[in-house]
Amino acid sequence: MSDDSRVAELRRLFPVTAHWNYLYNGSIHPCAKPVSDAMRAFLADWENGGEAAFFPAYDAFGRLKEKFARLIHAEPRNIVITESTTAAVNLAAQLVRPRAGQNVVVSELDFMTSTYPWLVCHPAEVRFVRSRDGGLRVEDVAALVDEHTAAVCVCAVSVGSGFRLDLPALAAALGPRRPALAIDAAQALGVVEVDVRRPPLDFLACTASKWLMGPAGVGFLHVADRHLQAAPPAAGWLSAANVGEWDVRHCRLHDDATRFQGGIPNLVGVVGALAGLTLLEEIGREWIEQRIRTLTTHALQGLERLGVEIWTPRADHERAGLVFFRCPRHQDLHARLKAARIYCGTFLGGIRLDPTFYNTHEEIDAFLAHVRAHLQ
Ligand SMILES: Cc1ncc(COP(=O)(O)O)c(C=O)c1O
Repeated sequence: MSDDSRVAELRRLFPVTAHWNYLYNGSIHPCAKPVSDAMRAFLADWENGGEAAFFPAYDAFGRLKEKFARLIHAEPRNIVITESTTAAVNLAAQLVRPRAGQNVVVSELDFMTSTYPWLVCHPAEVRFVRSRDGGLRVEDVAALVDEHTAAVCVCAVSVGSGFRLDLPALAAALGPRRPALAIDAAQALGVVEVDVRRPPLDFLACTASKWLMGPAGVGFLHVADRHLQAAPPAAGWLSAANVGEWDVRHCRLHDDATRFQGGIPNLVGVVGALAGLTLLEEIGREWIEQRIRTLTTHALQGLERLGVEIWTPRADHERAGLVFFRCPRHQDLHARLKAARIYCGTFLGGIRLDPTFYNTHEEIDAFLAHVRAHLQ
């Protein structure tokens, strides 16, 4: 099947395409029919059967862990389901527990999720890596790391410029005695390959709600084996291996990442996240990456011709799904695009578009035509 007919077929799964030229998939990914169908089916079962609906949903919880793990070449035993990327990074920070006198290295290019947990909740110094040309240099990260560094916490793909960090190169620059490496992969998973074994990552945090096509309210943290014995910062009945004993006096913690789960998770979200990941597997991440690369390259070439200030690095290996640029009166451009039913983002004084596999070259051309008209 040609790409065009495959795209036409896939667009039918995304009702948003009938209403918008939707180019903000790295922010809130629109809901696909199989995702809303799965969530509706859970709600109907719950309405009609009460607790009976929960058993298949618990099963979905287990399968979701397996799918998250498979995506990053990990084992389900290392996965904690969380409510968001933010909750996942906070859990990682609680497990690292940086002390006064230590430091944590973060990047000025990243989202608040990667910096606030360390800034607000722990006494260690927080050091910010400066960005250059919309990217990070691994040697700049390494220059801030010393024997008192408890963790380096950065995005695999930064949310502003869309810069993609070379994780093996980062680990190599930090050397064999490196601090814990905590990676926010919210803008990476579902688009580019991330393997928690290469380099061995201590923590990886993500949400289901962006490129994994699930609902908000579900995310996960990958916890490497060497942190699995850590005391959980919170505990609940799901943390206990002896839950079946109903022993309120003794909690025997699971020896895997389940010890960091608390109570009943957001099951309607879990069911939706599982459907999103299933769809991703069916479509194929590699094909998605190739489609996104074609569309973002087309957008970048068009924007270059229009002479706007592009913040996103141009090299294929230094970007993923995001394209960011600045131009005069960008708020007016954003309003104009919205009036033309073209949905993209605006922040940090610019415009961001995140096309995905169901978008078309014609949609990018329509976007570029409005930028051209705005600049005239
Ligand atoms: C890189 C990155 N990390 C974290 C977040 C926040 O995710 P969550 O709401 O799941 O905490 C975002 C949201 O845009 C993001 O782009």
